Amino acid sequence: MKIAVAGTGYVGLVTGVVFADLGNEVACVDIDPVKVDAINKGQSPIYEPGLDEMLQRNLEEERIRATTDLEGATRETEVIFICVGTPPTDTGEPDLRYVDEAAATIGRALNGYKIIVNKSTVPVGTGDRVRRIIEQHRAEPHEFDVVSNPEFLREGSAIHDTLNPDRIVIGADNARAAMKIVELYAPLERPMLITNLATAEIIKYASNTFLALKISYINAIADLCERTGADVVQVAKAMGYDQRIGHAFLQAGLGFGGSCFPKDVQAFMHTVQRYQLDPTLYQQILAINNARPVQMVERVRERLGGLEGRTVGLLGLAFKPNTDDIREARALELIKLLLQAGATVKAYDPVAMPRVQPLHPEVVYCRNAYEVAENADALVLVTEWNEFRQLNFERIRNAMRQPNLFDGRNLYDPQRMRKLGFYYYGVGRAADNGEFKAML
Ligand SMILES: NC(=O)c1ccc[n+]([C@@H]2O[C@H](COP(=O)([O-])OP(=O)(O)OC[C@H]3O[C@@H](n4cnc5c(N)ncnc54)[C@H](O)[C@@H]3O)[C@@H](O)[C@H]2O)c1
Repeated sequence: MKIAVAGTGYVGLVTGVVFADLGNEVACVDIDPVKVDAINKGQSPIYEPGLDEMLQRNLEEERIRATTDLEGATRETEVIFICVGTPPTDTGEPDLRYVDEAAATIGRALNGYKIIVNKSTVPVGTGDRVRRIIEQHRAEPHEFDVVSNPEFLREGSAIHDTLNPDRIVIGADNARAAMKIVELYAPLERPMLITNLATAEIIKYASNTFLALKISYINAIADLCERTGADVVQVAKAMGYDQRIGHAFLQAGLGFGGSCFPKDVQAFMHTVQRYQLDPTLYQQILAINNARPVQMVERVRERLGGLEGRTVGLLGLAFKPNTDDIREARALELIKLLLQAGATVKAYDPVAMPRVQPLHPEVVYCRNAYEVAENADALVLVTEWNEFRQLNFERIRNAMRQPNLFDGRNLYDPQRMRKLGFYYYGVGRAADNGEFKAML
């Protein structure tokens, strides 16, 4: 099948490359010529394991090309995916400007029946909005259908997730359009759900908000554990064995960041408000999450007796491992709070440092975890990259001015860290923290 993909970010490029790898002919379109040039040279503008190799293979076999010309790509294809960004505005509502622009361009280029598939995460009703925009801009009354096909991939395992999705949701208002998209996904042999447009649009937000809810929930439990001498890691483990609950997304720590959860919960909150429903649940998910970095900095401040003139090292900057994405990363919040309090901040991340550097040139960027530890008064584990799991902790301890380890992801064994001579703080692990005495 000949397809076009508008937007070559995490979702668009991975979608385009995977569809090409399945044998389709794909035009990847972006308004950013730098990204387009890089893609045509076989260099992915984003870091995603396995993406460069798959891109190069499909370029060589001429199944994929990148262009800035969305009108041209629309004219030559029947199925056009919209995968542009939907970042939050100041109010937290999604900015649909890029979706609107892409829809208008597609409308102008309409030269026959087309299916416009919206993969960007957009509020319920956006499919109808895209339809109206295309109608307004088309020169001839060519037929077209709008389909919602929300994306559930996770950055860091985007290729794997695109090839092996738990489910494929296809929201369409007629069978002709739905069946064409079913055909496109058929080689993956994964469960497919065909719904109407509104249902598909809500599925995406309902799923992400539920995952965010799980994280905030266990963090709320962590606060209680900290005050009562309980260990949230054990609480979560025991809860997770209940098949109705499951272990996924029950890790207490610095909370969620990234380009999806914070923005999707906010967007969903605005949607329920638009329909005169109570937003309290969504407000609480965000409030609990926003408090996490503040609380961590407070713990460091208490331990060091103030932050002015202290050196705090951050291990990890990306919002999660295996990605260079720093959007809404917890590390950015920590950097801001620590710098405001007069601390010197050192940091190391295997791939995300070039993205943070322009935002925070005052941070001391290091070549590895050991360099971060040198003369640090405290280390905070922010992103649980694999390379931080098995560090030489004796070397770390000896390099530090004071061996204070704050584990923002509960990655380490508290007993082991203490035996190694560290002061160790894990989130919601009062049973091991010693310093936080049971209040009861
Ligand atoms: N990143 C994720 O893990 C993820 C997962 C699921 C869903 N989503 C959703 O998918 C959408 C895209 O996310 P992303 O992370 O890939 O975004 P991104 O910011 O990485 O990429 C968006 C791209 O669209 C391009 N663009 C903007 N307007 C355009 C236009 N008119 N024509 C062509 N290209 C245009 C931008 O230049 C940019 O390269 C968002 O709605 C997001 O919420 C993201």
